[in-house]
Amino acid sequence: MIVLSAELNDYRNYGQTRVEFGGGINVLCGDNAQGKTNLLEAVYLCSVGRSPRTPRDKELIKKGCERGRIKLTQEDRGGSNTVEILLDRVENKRVAINGMPITRMGELMGVVAAVYFSPDEMRIIKDAPGDRRRFMDIALCRMSKAYFYLLGRYNKILAQRNRLLKSGKATDDVLDVWDAQLASEGAKIAKTRRGYVERLSKYAKEAHEFLSDGKESLCLEYEGFEGNDAQEAEKNFAAELKKNRERDRQFCFTSCGVQKDDIAVKVGEVDVRAYGSQGQQRTAALSLKLSEMEMHYAQSGEYPALLLDDVLSELDPCRQRKLIERSKKYQTIITCTHLPAEIESALGEYSLFSVKSGTVTTVDKP
Ligand SMILES: Nc1ncnc2c1ncn2[C@@H]1O[C@H](COP(=O)(O)OP(=O)(O)OP(=O)(O)O)[C@@H](O)[C@H]1O
Ligand SMILES: [Mg+2]
Repeated sequence: MIVLSAELNDYRNYGQTRVEFGGGINVLCGDNAQGKTNLLEAVYLCSVGRSPRTPRDKELIKKGCERGRIKLTQEDRGGSNTVEILLDRVENKRVAINGMPITRMGELMGVVAAVYFSPDEMRIIKDAPGDRRRFMDIALCRMSKAYFYLLGRYNKILAQRNRLLKSGKATDDVLDVWDAQLASEGAKIAKTRRGYVERLSKYAKEAHEFLSDGKESLCLEYEGFEGNDAQEAEKNFAAELKKNRERDRQFCFTSCGVQKDDIAVKVGEVDVRAYGSQGQQRTAALSLKLSEMEMHYAQSGEYPALLLDDVLSELDPCRQRKLIERSKKYQTIITCTHLPAEIESALGEYSLFSVKSGTVTTVDKP
């Protein structure tokens, strides 16, 4: 899949802009605070329905305006599709695919397939397990609408169980019913995530070795409910809920479940989450993103668009060149404040855009 064009109206610092992207590497070049990240954000918003930078949609509307709009046109094997997002200061945002309004965000998944990396994404490696879970869930939701709805069901049951615990009316009879549902849906999530991390690990190892020029070996492991299949995981989950029942009643909170899952990230024997060097953590985070690209390809036969924000300034020259080399096989949109000569020579064929005060212009290269 490739993104053919993006049209922005009153989005962030953009008034009216239309950008037509090339199918290979697209470089967005400009000084600080000109709108490079805003443009990548807009593309990603059309992919997953939410900004990678803020949960508050109102921030996306240009200051002083009542409404904002993004329209993305993509092309995949099935043809061409548009995704349009209308932002409103008063009402919730509205999303339309090919002009038809959608009622559930799940319908958006997979239309504009994109993988986004920014220095903020380093939290996937460094921060709390929640960020790694979110990483897994976003990737899995994009691959499968069934997973998206499964996760929604699980979170609803969990919220209801927690409400019940708080109400003080959590008798054994009632909890038995909720726990059976939680264990059943949770086990399906655990099984899906375990399978995902196993596949991800293979690709991540290859990507990390490539980016580090063979110097490092990366390994990922799912940390969640044990079980070779969903039934075994369900049994383990149910037993854990039973074991923690008294404590849950005491603290009015569900203390175990897939909402606690994590991914172990190791380079050699080193747990990169806690002990990795900055460079190892950066490379590992990028390797995860590149693995997502490959897994999406393995599943659908098409690569998503790769969105790389501010990534070059974060890497040493060898890893920069390796990343550029790798990016050539995808449609990549990459931002930078300047283009060093050695990077430009590594780019080969590419499209160059200048971003200045919320306007994007195509730069003709000599
Ligand atoms: N809702 C908004 N309305 C108007 N301007 C906004 C809005 N949100 C952000 N901006 C402005 O958009 C400008 C560009 O932001 P952006 O993050 O895209 O810059 P950038 O080109 O990526 O810069 P850097 O190189 O520093 O990362 C900033 O000056 C910011 O204040
Ligand atoms: Mg930026």
